[in-house]
Amino acid sequence: ASVLVLNGPNLGRLGSREPDVYGSQDLDSLRELLVATADGRVEIDLRQTNDEAELISWLYEAVDTATPVILNPAAFTHYSYALRDAAALVTKAGIPLIEVHISNPHARETFRHTSVISGVASGVIAGFGFSSYRLALQGILDA
Ligand code: DQA
Repeated sequence: ASVLVLNGPNLGRLGSREPDVYGSQDLDSLRELLVATADGRVEIDLRQTNDEAELISWLYEAVDTATPVILNPAAFTHYSYALRDAAALVTKAGIPLIEVHISNPHARETFRHTSVISGVASGVIAGFGFSSYRLALQGILDA
């Protein structure tokens, strides 16, 4: 069994992008943290793209393979109805999809207070840095 850990635009720059907000660790450290948390119980398939179409195709893959998803939609969170509709396909198929954020978007600019994804997610975890992903993985493992 595996878990898809999907990351949207600009998250490939973690480590150097706004370290005051997102910390100084990169996606490779995130993968290591999740592999350690999984402890052999599931494979961690961590990916990042700046491309909305690619992210949507990965959600189709989750549906077709019944693979749980941890999704950080990044800025798409706030306006991508196309990504929302694709996320709904996952959860309507009975597959868990947890929305995660490194920061707490509600404590930031007003445009970040809206998530068009949350309404179709199984759950949402935000504001715990990379631990947001770890807590989401724990939730999937517990379920
Ligand atoms: C983010 C929050 C979003 O508002 C922002 O656009 C990101 C990262 C987070 O993980 O805190 O790119 O999803």
